[in-house]
Amino acid sequence: MELDPTPHIKAIKAHLNARTDVKAAFNRCRDAMLREVETVRAAHDAGRPVIPEISYHDIAAGTVSDNARAEVRHRGCVIVREVFDRAQAQDWNNEIGTYVERNDYFARAKEKAGIDKYFSQLDDATPQIFGLYWSRPQVMARQAESMANTKRFLNRLYDVDAPAGPEFDPDNDYAYADRTRRRQPGDTTLGLSPHMDSGSYERWCDPAYHAIYAPIFAGAFEDYDPWKAAFRTQTREFASPAVCSMFRTFQGWTALTAQGPGDGTLSLIPIANSIAYTLLRALQDDVAPDDLCGAWPGRALGLNPEWHRDLLHGLITIPTVHPGDTVWWHPDVVHSVANEHNGSDYANVIYIGASPVCAKNEAYARKQAEAFLAGRSAPDFSAEDFEVDFEGRATEADLTELGRRQMRLS
Ligand SMILES: [Fe+2]
Repeated sequence: MELDPTPHIKAIKAHLNARTDVKAAFNRCRDAMLREVETVRAAHDAGRPVIPEISYHDIAAGTVSDNARAEVRHRGCVIVREVFDRAQAQDWNNEIGTYVERNDYFARAKEKAGIDKYFSQLDDATPQIFGLYWSRPQVMARQAESMANTKRFLNRLYDVDAPAGPEFDPDNDYAYADRTRRRQPGDTTLGLSPHMDSGSYERWCDPAYHAIYAPIFAGAFEDYDPWKAAFRTQTREFASPAVCSMFRTFQGWTALTAQGPGDGTLSLIPIANSIAYTLLRALQDDVAPDDLCGAWPGRALGLNPEWHRDLLHGLITIPTVHPGDTVWWHPDVVHSVANEHNGSDYANVIYIGASPVCAKNEAYARKQAEAFLAGRSAPDFSAEDFEVDFEGRATEADLTELGRRQMRLS
């Protein structure tokens, strides 16, 4: 039986509404967001880049400018180019293809259809997201030094100071084993409407989120800093197969094929503090007292035209990325995946976010290591366990010293 969160939502909304003039706060926030969205839209429509781009070589050389950092903080997202050589990423793409075929993934997926109620596509459709976690390319990409350097750079965009000591260790991370996407041209099964992950109603109801968003709920969204890490690792999400158990400073993926506008790939609202709009919107008096604009436990936090039209106008597609490029976005950044892939080639990615060392992530890393050693599905995902007897799966012997640390095996 599903828990009914509405009494809780009603009580929390009454509490938040009593704290400040939420109408005045929202109106100020809305004005600022409308201006920001207009800036994004105008630049995008004029063909000027909006999503910041950084070359990995500048990260490696330590030559990223303060301006570039400020731009990433402002936009809440970034494309880091050439984290891997193009040829390397293409080889990985082919290798995953071989791994899928050689182990008869499609036939097995049919047999197991129904196990994955949350992530599987329609039973008769060809899978586009694969329940594979331990192919050699995935493991190699996760443990690459260039990937670790990129995450270190991204983690350091946060201020980790917190009342009980650093919120996380920006220089070290745990691997978060996620799946891989191989999206065929013409596919229409994979669209994701605009949403953010890492909790839905929790953003209004969880005590750690209250601390994170304190300035917004106090009516001073201008003082809210998305890059203050304090309390971010302490949020408690309603357990659900749709929720990531690790804290991620950035969600992200690595491109294995070229993809861009029209290719059924990612769109973002590149405004780091736009969460202020979403939070305050739900507290306005045209929303029912027990409703948070549809936010519901165990689901992604969706934005919809009824409540969030102003913001949705700022949703833009990423520019074309090439094999070896990576895309990253802050956990509060709204993103979507186009319903249709109208391009002519596969749009393939390996999902790799940034999950730094902290107590929350360590707890998950322990469980994940056991799954890895046995070849089972990663613990956050449904237990399809495809790879238990897959030929060519990565094993402990494939891990570097860094890889072992990231898997909490040393
Ligand atoms: Fe998402």
